[in-house]
Amino acid sequence: MVAKRVPLIAGNWKMNLDHLQSIAFVQKLAWSLKDARFDYAGAEVAIFPPFTDLRSVQTLISADKLELKFGGQDLSAHDSGAYTGEISGAFLKALDCSYVIIGHSERRQYHHETDEELAAKVAAAIRHGVVPVLCVGETAEDLEQHGPSAVPVAQLRAGLAGVEAGADIVVAYEPVWAIGSGQAATPEQAEQVAAALRATLVELIGHEAADATRILYGGSVKAANIAGFMRQPNVDGALVGGASLDLAEFSSIAQFQKHVGT
Ligand code: 13P
Repeated sequence: MVAKRVPLIAGNWKMNLDHLQSIAFVQKLAWSLKDARFDYAGAEVAIFPPFTDLRSVQTLISADKLELKFGGQDLSAHDSGAYTGEISGAFLKALDCSYVIIGHSERRQYHHETDEELAAKVAAAIRHGVVPVLCVGETAEDLEQHGPSAVPVAQLRAGLAGVEAGADIVVAYEPVWAIGSGQAATPEQAEQVAAALRATLVELIGHEAADATRILYGGSVKAANIAGFMRQPNVDGALVGGASLDLAEFSSIAQFQKHVGT
């Protein structure tokens, strides 16, 4: 039996919006969804602001009892100690972060994060009760050389090395060539890789957990193209970059059900 997966619409703000801007944005996003009578039981909406915004976002969401979720964009593999500049999963948990992004292609590229380090970060997130959003994705060269799913599947295997069966995780498939390029994958391309990722999840964490795992697509997602992705059986949401900074766009993406027409 296929588990019913609650879709997840996630906004990765990257290095944008300071803590004051984050408060204004979250307030307006909540109002916009309230105005639209958004049903949070039908889809989760999560934002991933910079670390310095998290306390403000947490305070606002808690005080106003908003149903929005939030998380960090990275975490340390270590729990505490002499790691200047790093953020512990314990700190994210203490701030009520539900999720943490791990292995975004920008961190793989600019910070040279390896699959081994990412596996340690996934383990750290799970240890602290924060759900890892593990990002995988191929470059244009990978696509040409190895085909569509080889690299994402290999990254998934490496990132989940040591994770136990039944683990609660989210996977984000983000083709590097589609990020910030305005050239999204087609829904069929996203589905092909998402299906391969889910088949691999069955091996790694077992049938039941694989069925329950949300697989997101990311890379130039907009209100105009979200429906195509959400119609795919193995795509359970989106990790949105640029469009998550535009209130009307992100609110509209969150309301994908109106575009999908179900
Ligand atoms: P864009 O939506 O700007 O292409 O970014 C995608 C992304 O990297 C989300 O993590």
